[in-house]
Amino acid sequence: MKDTQDVFVQKTNNRVAEDKFYREVLEGLTKQQKSLPSKYFYDAEGDRLFQKIMECPEYYLTDCELEIFIDRTADLAATIGFNHEPFDIIELGAGDGTKTIYLLEYLANRQMDFRYLPVDISVNILTELELLVHARLPNVNIQVLAGEYLDMIAEARILSDRRKVILFLGGNIGNLTPREAIDFYREISQQLQPGDIMVTGFDLMKNPLIVRAAYDDAGGITKEFNLNLLQRINKELGADFDINLFEHYCSYNPENGACKSYLVSLVQQEVSFEDTTVGFEEGETIWMEISQKYSPDRIVALAASSGFEVVTNLKDKKGWFTDSVWRVVEQ
Ligand SMILES: C[S@@+](CC[C@H](N)C(=O)[O-])C[C@H]1O[C@@H](n2cnc3c(N)ncnc32)[C@H](O)[C@@H]1O
Repeated sequence: MKDTQDVFVQKTNNRVAEDKFYREVLEGLTKQQKSLPSKYFYDAEGDRLFQKIMECPEYYLTDCELEIFIDRTADLAATIGFNHEPFDIIELGAGDGTKTIYLLEYLANRQMDFRYLPVDISVNILTELELLVHARLPNVNIQVLAGEYLDMIAEARILSDRRKVILFLGGNIGNLTPREAIDFYREISQQLQPGDIMVTGFDLMKNPLIVRAAYDDAGGITKEFNLNLLQRINKELGADFDINLFEHYCSYNPENGACKSYLVSLVQQEVSFEDTTVGFEEGETIWMEISQKYSPDRIVALAASSGFEVVTNLKDKKGWFTDSVWRVVEQ
């Protein structure tokens, strides 16, 4: 009986997710500046392509943050150790855990009492991550949470009344505009207790040529990654995008740190899905993703305006990336 109920709940959840996908795609493609939500990049193929992006020589973000997680593990652990009080680590957009595994291993080796609750919108990548943690760190208590960031923090609060550490790595925060980032952190600080910890990986402003190359690799993987979302819309919403009629374009504005990816329609064309037809002019763009870069001052201001104080910043040797550790302040 319970199994039948679970299957029913699962099917209903899938239907709700499909409807939301349809609504958000439709909303994005019917705006004056067409756009698609970047959270939908991550189906199984998108996960695979993102793992290839992380291996691209131009994509410095992963190497920088990996260096921090390998070389500065003790410093990171010291800021979140809570004097051996039990705690839970909630990781937002955990992906395949490439970097986090080093921190988990360090904490587990020191018999810290913690649970690991990774959150991701991609069920596929959570399955991979769970297998990795079981294989490498069999004593770590892991419970995956499939869904969107804020919804899953609310879910995690139901599961946990311990002190909390939120990890948000990989520069994922850059996928929100600076205005959205303030609202996002405000919501998070309201869901936490004073003293809880937030660790965010921020990609720092740097030579614009280095930034732009990271999102426009010579091997064309980022292009494939962007086009894959059109293919996902074809597969899941029955659309008829011809991906050969779109090109990838990336811009970086060194004045405000906004790096933006677009797909450009190479011809005038129409695309249909479900009962909708969307027209594209030749040269018209779909805004696919923002990858906002931060200055150190802006990070401090962001923490202060959203209910946190900065505890420390752990940077890689080149100073290109920082894992910024914040504490929730008493309001
Ligand atoms: C750029 S990858 C980074 C993965 C990992 N944090 C890292 O540093 O390697 C972004 C991850 O966040 C997930 N994601 C994106 N938007 C999300 C959302 N709104 N809610 C939950 N997960 C999301 C994606 O599925 C993907 O696994």
